[in-house]
Amino acid sequence: MKRDFVSILDWTSEEIRNNLEFAAELKNKTKNGDCPNFLQGKNYVLFFQKESLRTRLSFEVGINQLGGRTIALSEQEIKIGKREPIKDVARVMSRYVDGILIRTYSHQMVLEMARYASIPVINMLTDFNHPCQVMSDLLTIFEKFGYIDNVRVAYLGDSNNVTNSWLNIASRIPIDLRIATAPETLPNLELVKEINKIGISKIKVTHSVKEALDGAEVLYTDVWASMGEKEKINERERVLKKFQINSSLLKYAEKKAIIMHCLPAERDKEITDEVLEGNQSVVFDQAENRLHAQKAILVQLDKWLSL
Ligand code: CP
Ligand code: NVA
Repeated sequence: MKRDFVSILDWTSEEIRNNLEFAAELKNKTKNGDCPNFLQGKNYVLFFQKESLRTRLSFEVGINQLGGRTIALSEQEIKIGKREPIKDVARVMSRYVDGILIRTYSHQMVLEMARYASIPVINMLTDFNHPCQVMSDLLTIFEKFGYIDNVRVAYLGDSNNVTNSWLNIASRIPIDLRIATAPETLPNLELVKEINKIGISKIKVTHSVKEALDGAEVLYTDVWASMGEKEKINERERVLKKFQINSSLLKYAEKKAIIMHCLPAERDKEITDEVLEGNQSVVFDQAENRLHAQKAILVQLDKWLSL
């Protein structure tokens, strides 16, 4: 059965938990030089309309480690939606490869691709969601604390694709999510309402950093202006200044709190260089775990395809 990973919401709570377990197992095997070749003979297309370091490398390396091959395509090469419609691209790709991975602006484009493709589609980031990032972040949190349920996460700064994916996680895994942001950069309140209705997590949207950090075990931030909206940076700096993660804020959180950032970071904007380089920071473990969590996602989707 063809399944996708366009959003965290595409998978059940149990499937997410199984994936984390499987990712940990694959990580262990890979570290022991014993990565299984589950994707032997498989080909994956990676299509990028935005820049990337971590996502591109972790998917390419991960697929290679699993015995598969990748073909990276840029906007320049296929001019999707201009040279031909998305639905044609999806059906053509489905005749050649075993999975389509996309990073783009429009979430709608990825949904349309998934609708017309007969093979799994993975969202490598849209303006709306970054599901691979948060799946990997859960793995990092599990490694650091030994649990994910009811973990207290304070997300500070701009509400963006990463924030939305955290909100999606909150509808699948019980977490205590506090989003501290400015009135100008609120998250999608419809989404917040929907997740509150599901009722398994605690969600707080606040303008008070102290309130968000109270007892927090994870302090998370991301750039104040995402790809595609970099022209907004001056305005964002003005409204988000007080949400910067810096050493003077750490005292409000748990002593054992970890500092997370999906990277790339803009040092001394959303996070100070001191905190990013400090001993509570786990940002490079996060980056590494992209590799392991995504390998598990790829193998799972491939297994479902043959059911
Ligand atoms: N975190 C992340 O997705 O990084 P890249 O934009 O470099 O892929
Ligand atoms: N919110 C950021 C994440 C980058 C990985 C962006 O979309 O640019």
